Amino acid sequence: MSEVDYADVQGLVRFGYGRLTSASYALVRVKNVAAAKAWLRAASVTSAVEQKPPPKTALNIAFTAPGLEKLGVPESVIAGFSHEFRGGMAQESRSRQLGDVGDNAPSKWFWGGYGREPHAVIMFFGEPDQFDSFVQTTKGSSWSDAFEEMTWLGTSNLDGNEPFSFADGISQPQIDWEQQRRTPCTQLQYTNITALGEFLLGYRNEYGKFTDRPLLEPDATSTDLPSAGEAPAKKDLGRNGTYLVMRQLEQDVRKFWQFLYEQAGGNLADAAQLGAKMVGRTLAGDPLAPTQDEPIPGVDPKSAQQNQFTYESDPAGAHCPFGAHIRRANPRNTDFPEQHLSALRKLIIMLGFGPKRFYDDLTSSVRFHRILRRGREYGSELSPEEALQPGPPNESPRGLHFICLNPNISRQFEFLQNAWIMNTKFSGLTGESDPLLGNRGSLPGCPVTSAFTMPEDGGLRRRVCGLPQFITLRGGAYFFLPSLRALRYFAGAPNG
Ligand code: HEM
Repeated sequence: MSEVDYADVQGLVRFGYGRLTSASYALVRVKNVAAAKAWLRAASVTSAVEQKPPPKTALNIAFTAPGLEKLGVPESVIAGFSHEFRGGMAQESRSRQLGDVGDNAPSKWFWGGYGREPHAVIMFFGEPDQFDSFVQTTKGSSWSDAFEEMTWLGTSNLDGNEPFSFADGISQPQIDWEQQRRTPCTQLQYTNITALGEFLLGYRNEYGKFTDRPLLEPDATSTDLPSAGEAPAKKDLGRNGTYLVMRQLEQDVRKFWQFLYEQAGGNLADAAQLGAKMVGRTLAGDPLAPTQDEPIPGVDPKSAQQNQFTYESDPAGAHCPFGAHIRRANPRNTDFPEQHLSALRKLIIMLGFGPKRFYDDLTSSVRFHRILRRGREYGSELSPEEALQPGPPNESPRGLHFICLNPNISRQFEFLQNAWIMNTKFSGLTGESDPLLGNRGSLPGCPVTSAFTMPEDGGLRRRVCGLPQFITLRGGAYFFLPSLRALRYFAGAPNG
């Protein structure tokens, strides 16, 4: 096992930079290749090395496939990146899979759709009093020669809540940085510890394998790159890098709370309870599923009240409905519905084998489908009480700049989005998709997708119908967040 060289990893993989409450994402296109490369060579990108005291500002950079092409990265090298990354988020076949249709279709996006793909996202983080000067100094005088700024995405600090007012950023996988986890593993219990290769390229993933990435023949341009773990004669352009998925999700906060309030017969406490059922957590972030006394590997005992739970003690969904956002996004142990499978059968599925039918895909083990969320909110705070009032004309939008990191976009982000979040038959449900994120569009064989079912004790259930679309996708792209050495390779820096 080789140790992780944190100095080669961009900081966002290891830290969410939560303390740096100001952040902006510049979506840029390269205007002048030589100037852009010079700017990238000079940029002080923040690594994942732990600093004491922690930095007051940070800079991270990621590229799209058209961006790498524009920088002159050879086609043969780009071909080594994943199919999803090269095709981009806005590809037509992909849009159907991701539910990016109707109002969410790429043709309606503000950025990222056909002909409007950024080349790079340059992410600035800082303490509020340092932020503006940090951005100005980092851009420097050559910025406008190098890049055309397509969009400047600002963020806001809502004190740990997302715009609907629910506490966010609570459940994250614990990365096995020390590579102690034996993979493939045969453990049947839910664990929060996930192999390093599920978050960084160049290390073993949950299958015990290396995820595909560009491996280069050594030559004068690649001497600075590390050797590949499974093929030491090759230079690993992917190692210590990962893919970054970005989606601008606009949230209609007034529509959300007004719908809940109406359903709750004009009682705000009941409306908040219905909202909690949709999320799977209360506004304060407590899970609806009962927590357990037994520790879960990788769950910090300090956060036991919020994270020490699976859905084993809620098999009927009476506490946390099957369709709740967090139960869809990480079903923990409900990936074995009804628990009727023999231990051997579970093991076969956990190892990723078994018949290749769609259903089996849906029930394959959750540890192959974890993501590291690194998004930030935008727009001003609006409490549930305020959201019940009509808004002013041309109100500024609110939402989430959703960002997640994963080395296998199709097995991680896309699986989550398609097989769990958007799936109208998830966990045996019918006629519904994620209560927060669903686009409510009808599908062949499923004309209604706007319901939400809440099972109750004693086999009863409550079903809310006619959920409107609360969240609209405004832009998105797949980026590659390179290691610092790969970044120097892209920028054409001399080796050494
Ligand atoms: C505006 C859109 C979204 C909102 C308002 C939202 C809101 C939330 C909230 C309130 C939580 C619970 C707090 C926490 O565990 O951190 C959560 C958890 C989570 N969300 Fe979202 N989310 C959104 C989009 C997405 C998307 C697009 C994905 C993935 C495709 C996603 C994946 C997850 C995951 C994996 C969890 C953690 C589940 C767990 O481990 O228990 N979310 N989200």
